[in-house]
Amino acid sequence: MISDNKTAQSECLPTHIGIIMDGNGRWAKMRGLPRSAGHSKGAAVFKTVSRYCRDRGIKYLTVYAFSTENWKRSEQEVSGIMNLLREYLKDVKNYTKDNIRVCFIGDRTPLDEDIKALMEETEKTSENFDAMTLNIAINYGGLPEIANAARICAQKVKSGEMSVEDITCEEIEKHLYTAPQPAPDLIIRTGGEYRLSNFLTWQSAYSELYFCDVLWPDFNAKHIEAALSEYAGRNRRFGNA
Ligand code: FPP
Repeated sequence: MISDNKTAQSECLPTHIGIIMDGNGRWAKMRGLPRSAGHSKGAAVFKTVSRYCRDRGIKYLTVYAFSTENWKRSEQEVSGIMNLLREYLKDVKNYTKDNIRVCFIGDRTPLDEDIKALMEETEKTSENFDAMTLNIAINYGGLPEIANAARICAQKVKSGEMSVEDITCEEIEKHLYTAPQPAPDLIIRTGGEYRLSNFLTWQSAYSELYFCDVLWPDFNAKHIEAALSEYAGRNRRFGNA
């Protein structure tokens, strides 16, 4: 999958891509398999796509692995996704050749202690890897992220560290989970739905959006290249005429 498609090489590439990996459940259902089988295949595709993006010259990739709303799913499904994360985290220390820095965004408070420890270890051991930064969103929601940044600003005002007038967009951005990384240039959503579902709500203000019907477990290099080609043809004006 990795090296067979070089179609979109010379165009302007996004620096940062966000991906909403949707469609695991439907993929499994279509095959008469449990939803967990879709998530397993989805996790494998996530690893392949991460490496493909790195090889393609993408500097930041953010994937939506578990949202603040996903706790509403059955206990079995939630623990299945957490176990996939656990497996990945135990394995990722063997991926030193990948040269990918791994960061986690989201509220870690309700996660199991062993997962929190592995997340911290992964961030530490990969902190100097520089081919690409991979942000994995776990228990992430864009609205709670903004509320969290607002609380930090309020605390700073309360303690006298800054004034109300200092609460600017730049100040709020400093307290987002993704700081100091650039905003995503391109957000891809698989699975045929046309919404952002609380993903990078602040950071997506000027992102180009790309929706495709393919279910996440079927997503491959060809689909990434289609998104990159589409992106290269977009006219980004950022409010200019
Ligand atoms: C959305 O598909 C997918 C998720 C809520 C989970 C995504 C998780 C993975 C791809 C595995 C991540 C693993 C690691 C190691 C980071 P859905 O279940 O909502 O699909 P549906 O819309 O077809 O029901």
